Amino acid sequence: MGSCIRPYDLTLPASARAQALGQKPCCLWLTGLSGAGKSTLANSLDLALHQRGLHAYVLDGDNLRNGLCRDLGMSAAERSENSRRIAEVAKLMVEAGLVVIVSAISPFQADRDAARALFEPGQFRCVYVSTSFEECARRDPKGLYRAAREGRIHNFTGFDSPYEPPYDADCEIDTARLSIPEATQALIELLTPEA
Ligand code: ADX
Repeated sequence: MGSCIRPYDLTLPASARAQALGQKPCCLWLTGLSGAGKSTLANSLDLALHQRGLHAYVLDGDNLRNGLCRDLGMSAAERSENSRRIAEVAKLMVEAGLVVIVSAISPFQADRDAARALFEPGQFRCVYVSTSFEECARRDPKGLYRAAREGRIHNFTGFDSPYEPPYDADCEIDTARLSIPEATQALIELLTPEA
């Protein structure tokens, strides 16, 4: 599919776009269970980066599933396709010079490996939001753990659909132990170690 289509090289290189924005673009990929705190943390980091004059954007699984990925369900194949699309969009945004914060369960290591492989070395960081299943189920912000227990939804991550913790995480954050401001600070330090 698409094998006869050659990419067209834009004259303006990604490096010129990054230079114009005065930053080092990268993709920070937050993975973890539903309710682990990924979206809250991504949102907080987005704000903090903006306040520091950086240009960032959040690609959130729930948001994308209302648009670009609205045709996808929760089977393993559809979750892989979801990750693939998010990774490709993140790659384009990084080429455009942005700091891209991905927030998606992205339960499979192979899909996260494929995402990482799209980027230059050092441009992709995996953040494992490792908040436990028990804590996520206790919080249950959207009532989905309860719905899964009662058999009203199926293929629910950590319940009847697997989650593979990353073996290559650049950072691990348990939001039951770290507050959102503390976790945000840890991610800022990961992104800008020189600051
Ligand atoms: S992923 O597994 O394909 O990466 P993604 O992060 O895009 O998932 O979307 C997960 C969101 O969909 C959850 O935050 C939750 O609100 C919702 N959701 C609905 N059904 C499920 C399910 N069966 N498993 C996990 N999340 C679900």
